[in-house]
Amino acid sequence: MNNLTKKVSELSKRRGFFFQSSEAYGGVAGFQTFGPEGAELKRNIEESWRNTFSRELGHREIQAPTIMPEPVFKASGHLDGFDDMIIECPECKSSIRADHLVEDNTEIEEAEGFSTEKIAEIIADHDLECSNCETSLTGIEVEDFNLMFETSIGPGNGQPGYLRPETAQGIFVEFPRLKEYARNQLPFGITQIGKAYRNEISPRKGLVRVREFTQAELEHFIDPDEDEPNLDKVQDVELKLYPVDKQGSGEYITKTVEEAVEEDIVHNWVAYYLGIAKKWYKEIGVDMDRFRFRQHQKGERAHYATDCWDAEAEIDGDWIEIAGFAYRGCYDLTKHHEHSREDFTIFKEYDEPVTKEKTVVQPDMGYLGPEYGGKAQKVAKKIGELAQNSPEEFEKEAVNVEVDGEKLEIPTDKCNFEVKEVTESGEHIIPHVVEPSFGVGRTVYTVLAHAYEEDEIDGEERRVLHLSREVSPTEVAVFPLMDKDGLGDKAQEIAAKLREKGFSVKYDDTGNIGKRYRRQDEVGTPVCVTVDYETLEDSPETVTVRDRDSTEQERVEISKLVDYLR
Ligand code: ATP
Ligand code: GLY
Repeated sequence: MNNLTKKVSELSKRRGFFFQSSEAYGGVAGFQTFGPEGAELKRNIEESWRNTFSRELGHREIQAPTIMPEPVFKASGHLDGFDDMIIECPECKSSIRADHLVEDNTEIEEAEGFSTEKIAEIIADHDLECSNCETSLTGIEVEDFNLMFETSIGPGNGQPGYLRPETAQGIFVEFPRLKEYARNQLPFGITQIGKAYRNEISPRKGLVRVREFTQAELEHFIDPDEDEPNLDKVQDVELKLYPVDKQGSGEYITKTVEEAVEEDIVHNWVAYYLGIAKKWYKEIGVDMDRFRFRQHQKGERAHYATDCWDAEAEIDGDWIEIAGFAYRGCYDLTKHHEHSREDFTIFKEYDEPVTKEKTVVQPDMGYLGPEYGGKAQKVAKKIGELAQNSPEEFEKEAVNVEVDGEKLEIPTDKCNFEVKEVTESGEHIIPHVVEPSFGVGRTVYTVLAHAYEEDEIDGEERRVLHLSREVSPTEVAVFPLMDKDGLGDKAQEIAAKLREKGFSVKYDDTGNIGKRYRRQDEVGTPVCVTVDYETLEDSPETVTVRDRDSTEQERVEISKLVDYLR
């Protein structure tokens, strides 16, 4: 473990930010518990994200289940393509993520996009060894490993289901209802903050690679021919970009959002969200000198993405992906439209009605029902699609469609195929999707690591978290200098009043005052309020307010304390 990583992990454990789960039973890799300080920090980050990416942009938030049935992931492509590369050590049987082994031990920065064969070749060329027992891995097969956790829904053999590997699918599958809610008007955005699960091959670095984590995702549904982002509020935001053609050189280019769009470096919708995200990260305390946006290499992109940029934060010399910004096109909605029995299109009205020739079908459900049972609706939908895409097929005696992998032949006279002249007021389109996807745990971890500092106060070393006030778990700590002579009662009274006013307050009367300051510095509390003997003597009554970062103290009237803190 590197230096900062080690220090943040140690402090997190000791001060209740996060730690290994179920340690009493030996723990299991990839699961972390957020302690009282960490849970509050995480909640504050989520709330700040919600304000920036949902409320302020006029989007709405949903909560979908974390377990979804198998057909969802068959359609989404996760069942067949959501894999990482695994290699098993022949000696100690450790499972190792093969692309990471390559990145960690060669000059190659991004190996995720390579094929399993290429990775095996690189492992052999460099004679890479097992990270656990140092056995040579030359000649060992590299395989694909699906990251989804499978489960069984219901008793007995049940119905196969999976824990969602991204919250996004919970939004996509509900699109037919969500479009109704949006009254069929594009664009609209749906957000969700919730758990996602991935059976990571080698969980590591505390919150960075875990098997259960929280995502904050936004799916913005747009009409690609009509909808443009309003760049006004972000056009001057400067982005530190690491595009594909610069990767390996370590050279960045800095462009404003407006320039990045005009020079065709970043897709306009993606650039819009990079701008909003950059401002937000800065606000919650991510260090902009240790932050960049890196474009995905072609082979690295997820199966659904046409362009993707990651927000990355540097910790201990490693760049960690903390969010992904993907242009998912119409991939997801098309897949669910094809595989489900629902309509994932939006009806788009023309300015003027248009008259044109149109192929229509009215499949005979009296025939399809008894013949295909539960699949009849899907069959009818496929016949409709065939009529639109390949009308010439209906000149034959029978037409062929494929439903759930099964090839079916339908007599043409059961399709009621016709070419009609119709006047239409609009057309059905499948919206495109722009997706900013944030990992909340990785954000918490970055905020902690970038806030961490060791300095010296009055000749004494201290560890301090310079957390931004927006997210710090405790906003104010209140101390009596000593718990006697009425100082404790006064301090309790002040703490209660501040809590009543909505502050998150820690009351502490144990140990000497210096130690109490240090404890609060370590959890990033921006101000400490101390009640001392002067408090009782002064009229009006005053307290000492100490600033975490400068450690300077000033006296503030108790009656003005709430305004002062705000
Ligand atoms: P990586 O390449 O690091 O595995 P990814 O490309 O698989 O990440 P995405 O699929 O883009 O990540 O997921 C979106 C976000 O969810 C990421 O930016 C990250 O913040 C978070 N995330 C993904 N996997 C994990 C994980 N195993 N543990 C914690 N957070 C994760
Ligand atoms: N929804 C983006 C991802 O989790 O990969």
